[in-house]
Amino acid sequence: MDILLTGGAGFIGSNIALALQDSHTVTIIDNLSSGGSENLKGFQGGILDLDISEPLNLSQKFDAIIHEASITDTTFKPDEEMIRQNVEGFKNVLALAKKNKARLVYASSAGVYGNGPAPMKESQQLQPLNAYARSKAMIDHIAAEHSKNILIVGLRYFNVFGPREQGKGSSASMIYQLRKQILTGKAPRLFKFGEQVRDHIYVKDVAAATIKALEAKGSGVFNVGTGKGSSFNEVLAAVQETLGTNKQVEYFDNPITGVYQVNTLADTTLIARGLSWKPAYSLKEGIKDYFQWLESEGIP
Ligand SMILES: NC(=O)c1ccc[n+]([C@@H]2O[C@H](COP(=O)([O-])OP(=O)(O)OC[C@H]3O[C@@H](n4cnc5c(N)ncnc54)[C@H](O)[C@@H]3O)[C@@H](O)[C@H]2O)c1
Repeated sequence: MDILLTGGAGFIGSNIALALQDSHTVTIIDNLSSGGSENLKGFQGGILDLDISEPLNLSQKFDAIIHEASITDTTFKPDEEMIRQNVEGFKNVLALAKKNKARLVYASSAGVYGNGPAPMKESQQLQPLNAYARSKAMIDHIAAEHSKNILIVGLRYFNVFGPREQGKGSSASMIYQLRKQILTGKAPRLFKFGEQVRDHIYVKDVAAATIKALEAKGSGVFNVGTGKGSSFNEVLAAVQETLGTNKQVEYFDNPITGVYQVNTLADTTLIARGLSWKPAYSLKEGIKDYFQWLESEGIP
């Protein structure tokens, strides 16, 4: 297949690009606003430096589009500009998919559930807590409206960690931050008192789920998580076990209470049934594989 991948120089997009290129022809669109070409070492397809929040007039034809590009820094301001860029970007990609009669797989987020009941089901009421999550909920809504005319699969990724996220800086996963703190001689830091729960999923699993979604028989929106929650304290314990360290944790006040998700956990029933997909890595297996990669790349 000829596949267009937006956001392909970013964290998840680059993992998808590298996993896809052996079996498909991949063209990337990325304006390098948060991604970087260093993520695409070994990528042999085309890279177009375009901004998806402008209309996309491409002469090349595509069978499928994977849409990962987005403002991903949840602290981006002003809120209206984040929403505008994310939603306009999606509409432009949707228009291109329609023109090409291409199937569209796009990245949504577990952020749309806010502090709704967990395990989170795709059918439950959305309660986005910030502008980023609101933009994703709006995109899910637009996708649902168009899903009869064109095959559209939305993927609500939970907390993704793994290779090529280091360019995201403070937006990189807590697993990356905790390892970095420990290896640079600092105390690992957690919000008081580390009891918050997240469904952490390894990026190789997220890339595999996204590629699998290209074969979907119909439109739909699916959670991409492991179905297993881990508290921040448990994540730190797994990081320390992998590193062979036993550093004292430093708890600090969460500066963003109120609009902060306390407990996220994916109900994975729908993706297991609808896409015949399940994750291959447990939290500890993912951390081990990831840390081996960071070490081989010399990344502290
Ligand atoms: N990382 C996670 O834990 C997570 C969780 C839920 C959802 N997601 C979603 O997954 C997708 C990928 O996220 P990521 O973690 O790889 O983030 P990322 O910031 O590393 O990747 C986003 C990419 O999109 C590009 N981009 C942004 N705006 C663009 C524009 N207007 N035109 C062209 N390119 C543009 C950036 O340069 C970057 O390479 C995003 O849609 C994000 O919202 C990520």
